[in-house]
Amino acid sequence: MISVAIVGTGGIARAHAEAVAAWPERARLTAIAEPDEDRRAAFGDLHGVEHRYASLDDLLSAGVPDLICLCTPPGTHLPLATTALAAGATVLCEKPPTVTLAELDSIVAAGGDRFATVFQHRFGGGAAQLRTLAGSGVLGAPMTAVCDTLWFRPDEYFAVPWRGNWDIEGGGPTLGHGIHQMDLLLSVLGPWQEVVAVAARRDRPTATEDLSAAIVTFASGAVATVVNSLLSAREESYLRFDYRHATVELRHLYGYGDDNWTVTGAPGHEDVAEVWKAGRQGVNSGHTAQFGAVFTALETGASVPVAATEARATLDLVTSIYASAFTRTPVAAGSIGPDSPFYHRLDGTGAPWQ
Ligand SMILES: NC(=O)c1ccc[n+]([C@@H]2O[C@H](COP(=O)([O-])OP(=O)(O)OC[C@H]3O[C@@H](n4cnc5c(N)ncnc54)[C@H](O)[C@@H]3O)[C@@H](O)[C@H]2O)c1
Repeated sequence: MISVAIVGTGGIARAHAEAVAAWPERARLTAIAEPDEDRRAAFGDLHGVEHRYASLDDLLSAGVPDLICLCTPPGTHLPLATTALAAGATVLCEKPPTVTLAELDSIVAAGGDRFATVFQHRFGGGAAQLRTLAGSGVLGAPMTAVCDTLWFRPDEYFAVPWRGNWDIEGGGPTLGHGIHQMDLLLSVLGPWQEVVAVAARRDRPTATEDLSAAIVTFASGAVATVVNSLLSAREESYLRFDYRHATVELRHLYGYGDDNWTVTGAPGHEDVAEVWKAGRQGVNSGHTAQFGAVFTALETGASVPVAATEARATLDLVTSIYASAFTRTPVAAGSIGPDSPFYHRLDGTGAPWQ
């Protein structure tokens, strides 16, 4: 039985508690750490958690669980992950894994194969099916893709002290929201090569951007457009993959099932839609599916999905979008290292609107 602890019992922690409860034969939520006394008590009572602590250090001094879920603001992920990894636990950290590549690289060095990032949309049946069909050649070569995170966050959303600033949230919708869709895009299309981007702060009371748009070229030659917005009243997460033999589309908001996918065969390849239907897996995207995959890794001794080096490709794209937007130049994959200011802060030497 895998013992699980949750650190930070705010908004997203509930999804973690429910995901653990969905696998009762495999894992149990044994402890929580949360400095806010009321929140700690309410969460502990709701989910029947026996051991409750004010900090991760207190929790670890009572014993080291197998898996520690980090559900705290992004700027806290590095110190908490470093502590948890040093204690010998495996970490499942909410996205974004860290707020900079510099921080993520120090986690890679501290035990990156025991550090997983929550990118739950990789784990739905539709995404798995798409990767399999693309790999088998049924869809033909990828041509172009669309990756839109068109969400709406009112001004009140930024009342939480950590939101909307570069130091703790780390970035705006490019880092905090669109990262889900971009991670799924990369998990399907593979290595990206170059990005050209713009970012703007149009309408929200933030230091960070509330809008970005990018053109991403992949090693395969495919070209994707990416839009990340918190200004879009009709909200949608939309991914579209145009392969030589078919268009595959996903429309949802925060999670998808099989019905959120549509497949349109190109002339002469109409059967692709039937092949897709026959391969449906009935697995919704979400924390439960990713927790199942993490538990399998723990049970078999394999590296956890999505390990730090895998998450790095996604954070590299996010970082490069900021770098391209703020310097108004194309940025190549893997080119942002310790010499770049964007390696250390996503606003580099400061956003143009500051
Ligand atoms: N995967 C998703 O779909 C998804 C959705 C929402 C949020 N998130 C991510 O989850 C994380 C948390 O977001 P949230 O909306 O739940 O935030 P929140 O502000 O609602 O909750 C954060 C909690 O962490 C606690 N905390 C802060 N520092 C701590 C520390 N050092 N030790 C222990 N607890 C500490 C706070 O007291 C608070 O209760 C963020 O990284 C966010 O990006 C992911």
